Amino acid sequence: MQVTKVRLSNFRNYIDCKLDLQSGRNILVGENAQGKTNFLEAIELLSSARSTRADQDNDLIRWQAPHMVAELEFDSRVGLQELRVAFAKDQQAVSGKRIEKRIGINGVTQKTMGDLIGRLLVVSFSSHDLNLLRGGPRYRRDWIDSLVVKLKPSLQEIYANFKKSLAQRNKLLKSICEQGKVTVTDQDQLLVWDQQLARFGARIIKQRLAVLSRLLPIAEEHQSRISRSQEALSIRYIFKTNEGTSTYGAIEDAEEVDEPEAEISTGPLDSAQLGAMEEAEIVKTLMKLLKERRFNEIRRKQTLLGPHRDDLVFCLNDKDAVSFASQGQQRSIVLSLKMAELTLVRETLDEAPVLLLDDVLAELDEFRQGLLMSVVEQDMQTIITTTHVTGFDPRWLDGAAIFQVHDGHVQRLPATQAGYVNHVV
Ligand SMILES: Nc1ncnc2c1ncn2[C@@H]1O[C@H](COP(=O)(O)OP(=O)(O)O)[C@@H](O)[C@H]1O
Ligand SMILES: [Mg+2]
Repeated sequence: MQVTKVRLSNFRNYIDCKLDLQSGRNILVGENAQGKTNFLEAIELLSSARSTRADQDNDLIRWQAPHMVAELEFDSRVGLQELRVAFAKDQQAVSGKRIEKRIGINGVTQKTMGDLIGRLLVVSFSSHDLNLLRGGPRYRRDWIDSLVVKLKPSLQEIYANFKKSLAQRNKLLKSICEQGKVTVTDQDQLLVWDQQLARFGARIIKQRLAVLSRLLPIAEEHQSRISRSQEALSIRYIFKTNEGTSTYGAIEDAEEVDEPEAEISTGPLDSAQLGAMEEAEIVKTLMKLLKERRFNEIRRKQTLLGPHRDDLVFCLNDKDAVSFASQGQQRSIVLSLKMAELTLVRETLDEAPVLLLDDVLAELDEFRQGLLMSVVEQDMQTIITTTHVTGFDPRWLDGAAIFQVHDGHVQRLPATQAGYVNHVV
């Protein structure tokens, strides 16, 4: 798969940018805050229908502009395709934050952003990915969920249904709390949402576990190579119950900290227990737990368990890597996970994804760069951003197209100047 053309109009700090990319390596060089990550963000948006770093859609539109367009053309096994999104600020809306979106695929208007998913395959690796270890549980959930959907785009429907049920259930919990009593109708309605939440929730948990079980052996092997067989990587899926929080609570989002509860009868289930359970059994467990903590949930006005609260724990030699691994080891774990992700996507979908490497190569020593290169085929399109190419294994630069990024402008350097970049930047 290969992105051939990108066009950005009023996207972030790009006023108007048209760029042709080549197969194999493309290296975007520029100082900080010039628009390198923004460029990759546009490609990710068109691939996954969302930006992992924008807090709101509004952020993607250039500050002074009323609308933005991001579009690209890519080549795949099924031929050339075009993806396009256009966001416009709704001038009438009081907050000015409402965004109108138009999505186009091969010139045909689509209903939702979700329609973009499953077309352009992208795997990205950025310095931000250290959040997989150091950030809150949300990063880990987002990562595994985006991988689940990448491998099987049809599953995005389950996520959408889950999100809807969760929002509805939380709304109901809030209204019951504010009423100060639970009517029979409320009880019936709650039961409906419990059922939906448990059904979609169990499906999500099962899918996450299935992907993890395929990813782990590959990541384990990479970690073993990086550590010269000293470190065994494992991943635990933590099915959160309030009771379990204190046991695994080292890496909590502030707003997710639960109070331990006495009345809960089921402790946290680990990956092995969950993996052995049929989906129907997980549904039952979720239903039972939701019922048990109903009053607490009403008091807290939110749903306290389900896949939106679960977490992953990465361990080296069975020790929690957040607490015990050095910074270098943590970086290695992220590298192992990302390489495994690349291999898994490549194998499952039988087509090479486009690899985005945002600001990571210069941070890797020669040995790690070599390992990464061993999973990146020479003809796999790779778009690399960096402030400098010093320290790059020369093989990354071999045949690469070099682009200079400056203040929202990207320009391909002629080969002679590219040579200059290799030696001087
Ligand atoms: N909506 C926006 N409109 C205009 N400029 C923006 C917008 N969002 C971000 N920027 C600018 O983009 C720049 C950051 O670009 P980025 O791609 O993250 O830099 P880098 O080259 O370091 O990766 C900053 O100067 C920031 O002010
Ligand atoms: Mg950047």
